[in-house]
Amino acid sequence: MHTTEKMFCYRKLKVFMLCYLGIIMAPVHAVVHHKFEVRRTSHTRLCTTKSMLTVNGQFPGPTIYARRGELVVVDVINRADANITIHWHGVKMPRYPWTDGADAVTQCPITPGKSFRQRVLLSDEEGTLFWHAHIDWARATVYGAIVILPPKTHTYPFPKPHAEFPILLGEWWNDDVQQVYEDFMASGAAPQLSDAFLVNGQPGDLYPCSKQDTLKLSVEPGKTYLIRMVNAMMNFITFFKIKDHNVTVVGMDGAYTKPLNTDHIAIIPGQTIDFLLEANQPPSRYYMAARVYAGAPLGRTYLPTTVIVEYVGNYTRPSSLLLPSFPEFDDFREASPPISATGSEALPTTTTPSKLLGSMNNVTMLLPKTQNILEAYYKGIRGVFTPDFPAMTPIIYNFTQGYKPENLAPAHFGTAVYMLDYNSEVEMVLQGTDYGYGDGIDHPMHLHGHSFYVVGTGYGNFDPNTDPPNFNLIDPPLGNMVAVPRNGWSAIRFKANNPGVWFMHCHFERHHSWGMMMAFIVKDGEAPNEKMLPPPPDMPRCEAPPAASTI
Ligand code: C2O
Ligand code: CU
Repeated sequence: MHTTEKMFCYRKLKVFMLCYLGIIMAPVHAVVHHKFEVRRTSHTRLCTTKSMLTVNGQFPGPTIYARRGELVVVDVINRADANITIHWHGVKMPRYPWTDGADAVTQCPITPGKSFRQRVLLSDEEGTLFWHAHIDWARATVYGAIVILPPKTHTYPFPKPHAEFPILLGEWWNDDVQQVYEDFMASGAAPQLSDAFLVNGQPGDLYPCSKQDTLKLSVEPGKTYLIRMVNAMMNFITFFKIKDHNVTVVGMDGAYTKPLNTDHIAIIPGQTIDFLLEANQPPSRYYMAARVYAGAPLGRTYLPTTVIVEYVGNYTRPSSLLLPSFPEFDDFREASPPISATGSEALPTTTTPSKLLGSMNNVTMLLPKTQNILEAYYKGIRGVFTPDFPAMTPIIYNFTQGYKPENLAPAHFGTAVYMLDYNSEVEMVLQGTDYGYGDGIDHPMHLHGHSFYVVGTGYGNFDPNTDPPNFNLIDPPLGNMVAVPRNGWSAIRFKANNPGVWFMHCHFERHHSWGMMMAFIVKDGEAPNEKMLPPPPDMPRCEAPPAASTI
């Protein structure tokens, strides 16, 4: 691809035109400013105190409020001892991948002492999204909600709620998360499991030393509340329920949905779901609880994380509360098997000792170490990536048979991207595989820079003849996350109308770390407003790694 000088010059010419456009467009948007200071602060959960990375000392971090189409400018200042990047999950960043925040994909990290002014370009997003660190496992503690309200002249497409609450699901490790990350990457085994699940940073009253900090949501009888839920967990699909209450889902991934009344919600890591809760039950106290739904190793107890919904008024407080009934984890696995992208799940390589790895189309992605794909593409730096990510998996076989076929070569490492012409219509079938190392697993796949329609999903092998006629082309769900079911597949469609470099990966952090990721480069179009905007002046510098340790 872009190997000729000619293309490089052409690129420069485009940039010039875009600068000009950028200047005249800027004043149109209202601007919201934030300052994010990343530093180490001390926090205590489960009777354990540790120092961890946070933004402005808060855990979870600050909520960004903005209106549809506004420009949010965040000054990220690194006052910690570790590299950092911040990603605006679900914000499409039209023509501006520069501040998307994906380490090694769109930028080099912000090193200690440095700062980066990130422009968060909201366009048609409305509802709830979130921001999180996008380097190693830092997002375990560095995340927060993004609330995008309707424009001033508009209202919600549902009756105005009495009040709104964010609910951010997370995980807590008593140990240092960077250490957990480094240990499991070095060992090649599965990572140490977290010690608690959290709602807004609190484990809830079923966990030791947590009772008095359990969150309470106080509601007035007869009123309706909007809950903005974010699954910021690292490794679990979660099941969420409120005792004796139904809820009405009204939004997902920063877009409104057809209202759906339900008694429970399943939410995958990286997903956001907005729902209405009507306080229509006898005044009392009720548990709101989230627990592991899928993707977890068996043979271990997973305590739910809890919040107490407390009706305002005079009534006898119940002495103890009942949990909503969840299906047993094992039952769920029986009832609905699920997995991944035209690729695979965790599979050992042929080298000994074997390590767990993930891949897509048999490519295990390696992130560039002291470079990033976006700048390499923009500046024509060679040797950082290859433009040859395969459109198909190398061989078609029975993907869900429980073993790896002998004629399938081991996955190879690479930094391959898939090139897309501007405005191409993309259909991607994400097929989960089962090589018998844990019997398949779901994969919450995420794409940066675009929303996509989920046109189909099914169990077993995707059949290119019989499945497409059943695609939902009438009202498919729209989002930036898709669940690929265990031993099954999902098909998505999107229009590549956003020039730039856009990451796609599994949002189970361990799979992401194992290389289950790839990137698209969407080329510029012809018209001036179809081209990437130029980079900001303060892009973090790509630095050589610290002088050789003994690796
Ligand atoms: Cu929420 Cu690439 O991530
Ligand atoms: Cu996965």
